[in-house]
Amino acid sequence: MLESAVRFIKERSGDFKPDVGVILGSGLGELANEYCQISIDYKDIPGFEASTVVGHKGRLVFAEINGKKVVMMQGRFHFYEGHSIQKVVFPVKVMKRLGVEKLIITNAAGGVNASFKPSDLMIITDHINFMGINPLIGINDDSLGLRFPDMSEIYTPEYVELVKKVGHETGVDLQEGVYLAFTGPSYETPAEVKMARILGADAVGMSTVPEAIVASWAGMKVIGISCICNSAAGVSTVGLSHEEVIAAANKAKDKFIKLVKEIIRKL
Ligand code: HPA
Repeated sequence: MLESAVRFIKERSGDFKPDVGVILGSGLGELANEYCQISIDYKDIPGFEASTVVGHKGRLVFAEINGKKVVMMQGRFHFYEGHSIQKVVFPVKVMKRLGVEKLIITNAAGGVNASFKPSDLMIITDHINFMGINPLIGINDDSLGLRFPDMSEIYTPEYVELVKKVGHETGVDLQEGVYLAFTGPSYETPAEVKMARILGADAVGMSTVPEAIVASWAGMKVIGISCICNSAAGVSTVGLSHEEVIAAANKAKDKFIKLVKEIIRKL
């Protein structure tokens, strides 16, 4: 399946060889709209599914951004949509086969760290996999990575420093911290958020961890950035809604896109 997806995409994208991959989270789709040179709908690609979340388009977008050849996922597959974990990470394997060596993963998250405010951006320095599943379970594809891959530097430390530097230069304030993934789709209870904090998490979300594991396994350098869209349950007294998350992502959109574009330039 992997080879047929790669063959199909290469037929459409010709000699465009991306070096950088970007998974666009809620609100960041505009980057793909702005730069789209070639686009391929997920529904047409063998092994891909159509995305079902409102606010997420479903297509691969190829474009040159600030001198770099980039492939963007406009919309991603979430485990909570009912896709198998293999489907969730399939596009990452495809990107690797297309030549992507550096992957920027973005997401919307809830702030667990009480000093975070809605619309803050957080560089992910490490993660906790609380999804109860690992995307590498099953027969190992030795052509992509090792059976027991080291995860001690999953978010490439050198790139964490680079992102901080870019934040500084572009005037985009950045938080940093640990991202913990639950499966969703329900938001957490206050007790779960308290647990996440005790375990060392600064933000909670429902994505990114499977993709980061597979990217790192396959030898890609990974950058993770969260848009803190709300205070996670119990951190502040107000309740949570998807609309609020989308509104905060939209508010952060311009600075987020500016940051990502400058990171791409420096990769
Ligand atoms: N929890 C989990 N995922 C999220 C949240 C949250 O509070 N906000 C945005 N995505």
